[in-house]
Amino acid sequence: MKILLTGANGQLGSCLQDLAETNPQFTVIATDFQDLDITNEQAVIDFVASTQPDVIVNAAAHTAVDKAQTEVELATAINAKGPEYLAKAAKQVGIPIIHVSTDYVFDGTATTPYLPTHPAKPLGIYGETKWQGEEAVRNTLAEHIIIRTAWVFSEYGNNFVKTMLRLGGEREELGVIADQYGCPNYAGDLAAAILHCCAQIKGGNTAWGSYHHCGDLPTSWHGFTRAILAEGLAQGKLSKAAKLNAIKTEDYPLPAPRPAYSVMDCGSMFDAWGVGASDWRNALSRVIAKL
Ligand SMILES: NC(=O)c1ccc[n+]([C@@H]2O[C@H](COP(=O)([O-])OP(=O)(O)OC[C@H]3O[C@@H](n4cnc5c(N)ncnc54)[C@H](OP(=O)(O)O)[C@@H]3O)[C@@H](O)[C@H]2O)c1
Repeated sequence: MKILLTGANGQLGSCLQDLAETNPQFTVIATDFQDLDITNEQAVIDFVASTQPDVIVNAAAHTAVDKAQTEVELATAINAKGPEYLAKAAKQVGIPIIHVSTDYVFDGTATTPYLPTHPAKPLGIYGETKWQGEEAVRNTLAEHIIIRTAWVFSEYGNNFVKTMLRLGGEREELGVIADQYGCPNYAGDLAAAILHCCAQIKGGNTAWGSYHHCGDLPTSWHGFTRAILAEGLAQGKLSKAAKLNAIKTEDYPLPAPRPAYSVMDCGSMFDAWGVGASDWRNALSRVIAKL
C-alpha cells in the first residue's frame, strides 16, 4: 500500500516512517515542506496525480500554538487550506485521506471526556485553523478519517518531555501548570494507529468519520512532569530532579489560551477501527530510554 505522507519530518511523520519501514505492506512517499508545500494547491494536485498513492496521511501542521496567534495567515494556510487541497487532490484520484487534528478544537469547559461529536469551540488561532481544516476535509471528501489527538510527545523534535527533562535536571525548582487536564499521546502509538487504519482501509473498512486517539489516562501538565522526572531518575538520565511545584494557568500567562480540560473519549476509534488508546506511561519509558 502506497502512503503519501506530508509533514514527514515532524514528530508523527518521523515515527510513522520508522514503523512503516518495518512493515513490507507499506511504501511511504515521505514529504515535508521542501518536497511538497501543502499550501500550494497546484503542487499538491500535481504531486498526488503523478505519484498515485493509495491513501494520503496528512501529518503536516503549524503546531506552534502561541506563534499562531500572530501568524494567522500562515496558520490558516497550513492548517486550514492545506488539508482542503490534499482532500481535493485525493478526490481527483479516488483515494481516502487520513487527517490529524487536535483537542484544541474544544474550549475545555466539559467535565466528562469529549466525544468526537461534541461541538467544537476553539479558544485560539491554532485550534480555530485546525477546526477549519477538519471542516474542509469533511466537506470535500466523504472518504476521510479525521483523528484528533493531544499532548503529543516522542523522541523526535522539540516537545514537552524533552523540555521538562532538561529543565528538571538544570533547575532547583520547577513550577508546572496543575489545572489543565489532558491525555498525553506518544507519536509512535498514533502512527501505529494510522498504519492500522491504512491496513483496514485496504481490507475494505469504510468507517469514515471523525475520531479521537490519545493517552488512556488523563493527567495535568504537573502530573505529566512528575512522571517524566521520575522516569528520568529511574533510568539514570537525571542525577537529580528539580522540586516540582504546582502552579495555576494564571501564574504562567501565554499568548494563546488553552482548554482547561481536553480529555477525549477514544471509544469510537476502537469500535470502528480496532485501535485502542495509548498506554502513555509505558511509551514515556520507551521514549526516555531512546533519549
Ligand atoms: N504536538 C502536539 O502536541 C499535538 C497536539 C494535538 C494535535 N497535534 C496534531 O498532530 C499532528 C502532528 O503533530 P506533530 O507534533 O508531529 O507536528 P510537528 O512535529 O510540528 O510536525 C509538523 C510538520 O509539518 C511540517 N510543515 C509545516 N508547514 C508545512 C507545509 N506548508 N507543507 C508541508 N509540511 C509542512 C513541519 O515542517 P517545519 O518544522 O519545517 O515547519 C513539520 O515537519 C498535527 O496535525 C498536529 O496539529 C499535535
